[in-house]
Amino acid sequence: RRRHDDGDKGRKAFSEQESWEEQQIRKSQLQFGAKDRGHAGDEYELVFEDAVEFVKSAAMAGTEPEDDTDELAEEIDAKVMLQRELQDQRKTLPVYKFKDELLKAIAEHQIIVVVGETGSGKTTQIPQYLHEAGYTASGKKIACTQPRRVAAMSVAARVAQEMGVKLGHEVGYSIRFEDCTSEKTAVKYMTDGMLLREFLGEPDLSSYGVVIVDEAHERSISTDILLGLVKDVARFRPDLKLLISSATLNADKFSDFFDMAPVFKIPGRRYKVGIHYTVAPEADYVDAAVATVLQLHVTQPPGDILLFLTGQEEIETVEEILRRRTRGLGSKIAELVICPIYANLPTELQAKIFEPSPPGARKVVLATNIAETSLTIDGISYVVDPGFSKVKSYSPRTGTESLLVQPISKASADQRAGRSGRTGPGKCFRLFTEHSYKEDMEDETVPEIQRSNLASVVLSLRALGINDLVSFDFMDPPPSEGLLRALEDLFALGALNSRGELTKTGRRMAELPLDPMLAKAIVASERYGCSEEMLTVASMLSAGNAVFYRPKDKALIADAARQRFNAGGAGDHVALLNVYTEWEQSGYSAQWCVDHFVQSRTMRRARDVREQLEKLLERVEIERRSCAGDFDAVRKAVTAGFFRNTAQRRRDGFYRTLKTWRTVFVHPSSGLARVDPPPRWVVYHELVETTMEYMRQVTEIKPEWLVEIAPHYYQENNLDTPEPKAKAPHEQGAAVAAEKPSPSLNDFFNV
Ligand code: CDP
Ligand code: MG
Repeated sequence: RRRHDDGDKGRKAFSEQESWEEQQIRKSQLQFGAKDRGHAGDEYELVFEDAVEFVKSAAMAGTEPEDDTDELAEEIDAKVMLQRELQDQRKTLPVYKFKDELLKAIAEHQIIVVVGETGSGKTTQIPQYLHEAGYTASGKKIACTQPRRVAAMSVAARVAQEMGVKLGHEVGYSIRFEDCTSEKTAVKYMTDGMLLREFLGEPDLSSYGVVIVDEAHERSISTDILLGLVKDVARFRPDLKLLISSATLNADKFSDFFDMAPVFKIPGRRYKVGIHYTVAPEADYVDAAVATVLQLHVTQPPGDILLFLTGQEEIETVEEILRRRTRGLGSKIAELVICPIYANLPTELQAKIFEPSPPGARKVVLATNIAETSLTIDGISYVVDPGFSKVKSYSPRTGTESLLVQPISKASADQRAGRSGRTGPGKCFRLFTEHSYKEDMEDETVPEIQRSNLASVVLSLRALGINDLVSFDFMDPPPSEGLLRALEDLFALGALNSRGELTKTGRRMAELPLDPMLAKAIVASERYGCSEEMLTVASMLSAGNAVFYRPKDKALIADAARQRFNAGGAGDHVALLNVYTEWEQSGYSAQWCVDHFVQSRTMRRARDVREQLEKLLERVEIERRSCAGDFDAVRKAVTAGFFRNTAQRRRDGFYRTLKTWRTVFVHPSSGLARVDPPPRWVVYHELVETTMEYMRQVTEIKPEWLVEIAPHYYQENNLDTPEPKAKAPHEQGAAVAAEKPSPSLNDFFNV
């Protein structure tokens, strides 16, 4: 009996004599009904998979489901349609035509470099091809690493959808503090940093049959280390397949690094992109960008716009301006759908950028560098490129790492322009002059490893038993000044002994996926009996800077609410602890967050992070203890990690860092910014550089703690030495123990 034959939507099912098939069908329908109610997640998925099977077999038998299951049937129809569409889409990707050739090449060679335009299907398809071809049959997984968290999550979601499975089952992802995989997982997208961590527990990566180092051209610090490590593993694991995949065409460097590994090129479709430059340099690129987007929207034929910005705050600003300005455009102008995308955007909102724009509307995607190669957004016809990105830079001499907005490289500018020519001819509007493109911009971006604080990397490598850093196989070695600085820092933290060997403290620190200073604070908290509290502080610090919010119309109430957490003036670390503790006592209530001007998203994240850290604490056998309100214990634990970040308020009222004599200020967001008189000695979590250098997350300490906690670093008689005048400030170390047994390069390297 076919549904469309009788056309009757009434409930007349089963009234007539049932055939055997009909009885079977009815039974299984009843089953879905029963299982379907009140179950979430997994079970529903199971039911759904059953249902798909059922519909398929019913369709084959020429029978359609009964009327009373219309809704379910329709839902299933929609899913089946979507699947078909997805499968068709997969076949249109450039890599599809080369599937067999690629699989053959992989079968014949252990290591292959795969190169193809962004959007050719490398990230989403190749792991699926390998899975389908049986590379996971033996129970070994396929790892595909991404330099960015968002990319790992969104690509995994997409692939799960294409494979018709629930995310976290056959396809999953693993990023710091979030593991969405299960025993079933065969294809695992992960950040490069996570695979690096897995080396700690599994130095031969034996649970993986294939490792794909994806987006290798990004040259993130973790990718660079991974390249060296997997190259080594491949030597003694001939069964391991290694794919290095890269978007741009400088693949030869990767091929050279892997002893002339063959390069597999996926020829891409690339349409012509018209490049337009501004005639004169722009004074304010944000203003110029907004104006350009609006102008494109009103004057140009349909096609979405992609605007590159430098970070979340900038994106939010532009989003607000665009919303305001488009409201006044009137009904004659098409709707402009604004889609932001940056690393911390909640997952629910990320999906929005992949949705096609509604008919008649135009989409503008406001993206960080993430849209340069990591994420492919279809339908972009116009790219607006201000020519800047936020990059990390590090000064080994002062030990400060900062995020600075800097001009991008030529390679980046070209890559960005190419985003507009994927589905048809595109246009790129560069908000800089042709002259500055040709004369001022660097050809390539400097690899991250050459401009970062290496303490964390060096600690991981030491934990992996790699002691000889000079002969580690770096594709581009980091400056030796930076390596030495990292070794000194780790020595000061007690992670390495004076012979440069990993200590027990260092081993524990390496297990925690945190900056070494924060890891040290947690390890030290055991001694001060406050591991519970330090765990909370660390989780809050890792969950992001947006803990409080401050609506403009309620600024004063919000400030007061915030100041309450800092009662007693103990500082920001204790304030963060207070926020979390009160939220926990409220039963993790969202309403509590609203009432106290706290961002509930940050809190939920902090809770997740805390759960992850709790498990790790168990692993490194740190006893969980609470100091029950003895905040000095917490502040001492913080000091044990951050003693190098000490500043003293001088007679002129300015804070000066103890080590390097830099003039720094308390960040206006700090609870200590409004304390009178300001504390004399403080430790801070980090320095943020804007027009001035600000200390963020500041806590008052007692100077004698420094001597007590870090005697190898500070000595009583020289803590308070007046600042010398004659020499350049950074060359002075008057406050630092003069004879500190500083390790030398020779102590560490086997040279
Ligand atoms: O890695 P590659 O740049 O070569 O391409 P990809 O990331 O595998 O993307 C291939 C296609 O998958 C894109 O053109 C998008 O249409 C689609 N895709 C998507 O719709 N949603 C995602 N989260 C990722 C990819
Ligand atoms: Mg990709």
